Order: sequence, then C-alpha cells, then structure tokens
Amino acid sequence: MKKITVSAPGKLMLFGEHAVVYGRPCLVTAVGQRMRAIVELTEDSMFQLDAPDVSVSGYRKPMSELGKGDPSTSLGTSIPKGAKFVEVAVKNFFSSQFTSKERASVGTGSTFEVGKAGIKVTTSSEFSSEFGFGSSSAATVCVIKALSELTGKKLSKKNVFDLSYKTVLEIQGQASGFDVAAATFGGTLYFVIGGKVIKQLNLPSLPLIVGYSGIKADTVTLVNQVKKKANKYPKVIDDIYDSIGYLVNQAKNALVKGDFQTVGELMNLNQGYLESLGVSSDKLESMIHAAREAGAYGAKLSGAGGGDCMIALAPNNKVEAVKKAINNVGGQVVDIKAHIEGVRIDG
Ligand code: PMV
Repeated sequence: MKKITVSAPGKLMLFGEHAVVYGRPCLVTAVGQRMRAIVELTEDSMFQLDAPDVSVSGYRKPMSELGKGDPSTSLGTSIPKGAKFVEVAVKNFFSSQFTSKERASVGTGSTFEVGKAGIKVTTSSEFSSEFGFGSSSAATVCVIKALSELTGKKLSKKNVFDLSYKTVLEIQGQASGFDVAAATFGGTLYFVIGGKVIKQLNLPSLPLIVGYSGIKADTVTLVNQVKKKANKYPKVIDDIYDSIGYLVNQAKNALVKGDFQTVGELMNLNQGYLESLGVSSDKLESMIHAAREAGAYGAKLSGAGGGDCMIALAPNNKVEAVKKAINNVGGQVVDIKAHIEGVRIDG
C-alpha cells in the first residue's frame, strides 16, 4: 500500500477544562465535522505537505531534517505554524518505530524501505480552524494512524494516542491531551491527563448547541494566566479545581442517564468556576446568558475560554429559540454532531 486516506473528528470540551491540566478528570465529546489526511509513501526521502486550510502549500523538506529549524528554538521558527504538528508527528513516528540503523539502511528488499521513504501529506478540514475544534491535534492523529498503516506497524489506538500526545506536548508545552483522545477514540470520554484514564461513555444522545464567539482563543496564554492566579492564590484555585473535578463526576452520571436537567445545572456551575478562574469573556457570557434565558437547561464556555465556542443543552422544543438567542447577541451557531466516531481509514 502506497497511499491512504484517514479522517479524525474535532472535539468539544463538555466539563472540566483547566482543572484537567492539574489532574482532575474532564468530559470531552468528539464532533463532526472531520479533519482528513491523504498520506502517500514516496521514494525520494522528502517530506511534503499541502494544508490549504492553514495556508501551507508546497512545503518540502528532506526527511533527515524533520523538526529542525531555527537553532535558537527547540523546534525552529522556520517551520510554518500550520506545518508544525504534521512535521513533528512524522518525525516522532519514524524515530519511535524504527532504529537509527533501520532509518539509514536502503535496499533491504523489504516491502517498506524506511531509508528511502519520503512522505507526502495533504490535509483538509470540514471545519474552520478558527472554531477551536482541535484541528492540529486531529491532523496529528490522522498522520500517525496513516503512517502506522502504510508502514505495516498497525499501532493500537492507545499507541496512536501516546505518539500523538507526545507530538502535541513537544509543540505546546503543557496540555492534557483531551483533544488527542477525542480524535483517536471518538465518542464521549471521561479523561484524565496524559490518557491515565480514557473511559468511553455509553450515551443515549447528546444534542449539543454550539455557538462560536467570533474570537480566536489562545490556549497557551489562558493556561498561563490561570497558572499565575494559582501561584498567587494557591488554596482558592486548588479548591476550585477540586470542585470542578467533583462536578465532572456528577455530570458523567447524569449524561449516562440522559438526565439533561442535571447536566444543564452542572454546566452552569462549571461556568461559574470558569468565571472565577478568569477565563470567561463578555461575549461568551452574553451568548451563555441568552441561551439560558431562551430556555436552555444550561450553558457554558467550552475549552480554554477567552473566545472560541460556548455550548448549551436545551429541551427539544427550545432548541430553535436558543439558537436564535445566540445569533441575536452576535454569536454564530455552528451545526455539529456530537459523540461521533474516532480516527478511521476512509480509503
Ligand atoms: O482551547 P482548547 O479547546 O484546546 O481547550 C483547552 C483546555 C484546557 O484544559 C485549558 C487545556 C488542556 O490541555 O486541557
């Protein structure tokens, strides 16, 4: 096999953002639309990438140079932002799956000759990278899965998760890996940092309403902002993390039972804690309050905060009113399906 198409879903954090970075559990759901990668094996020892959604076209580099850039930074500023995740994913796949001797040897006569291997990747996304659905992590998972098939390594899902998480950590510094887990395993997950716990929930349904604030959030900045607050008020912030962890466990039980009234109440409580952490925003709050006033069971921001999306859960007969209310305050309703399949081979 020389060419494969793999797709992976985006994600939305349901409960537990920020506290998950400090060891408390969170709940995340995989959302459609999907990120797709066509990955091809070539024999020219070059890495090539086209990722039009993030303005990368005709990017080329020798395989031996992967991950190398400006020597003044660990990864190199010369790697375009949109290429980093895929490039480092390819580098990590080969360095973890083949010895340096294997990587250097050519003409072993085997079906896959790593020494000659070049990789051509083309990514495309069904969702805008602006929404904060985790397109970089989904692309990372697609590429690792594709390489695992093309080279005959057939990694397990947990191995795909571990390698993808290593890649994200290398680029981002601090991250729980919840987005990588959603892209890999799909569905709705109870998750603890680094994949210490990844538990698939069996849900009756999850009719989420999603509103985009129009503002791009910067996760690293917000995580650092919370860290600063925790340094100044360690006891207060630690107690907030504990409370969030506690409500995540309650939300897990309510979701499995389909008790949306309780899920909604817990969303509102979680939002309160996120406001205390200082990661909410006027725009997100006006969308959240509009959704609640229009009859939602509950609403909260989703992800790092500061921008990106809010989520709401509403009774069937209130869904249209809630969407309209979000629109009326300047939010953009994004039609998604939650709880969808994880990484898969499409062709
Ligand atoms: O901004 P997002 O959607 O990637 O969410 C970040 C969630 C955090 O808990 C703040 C960070 C993390 O890695 O879990």
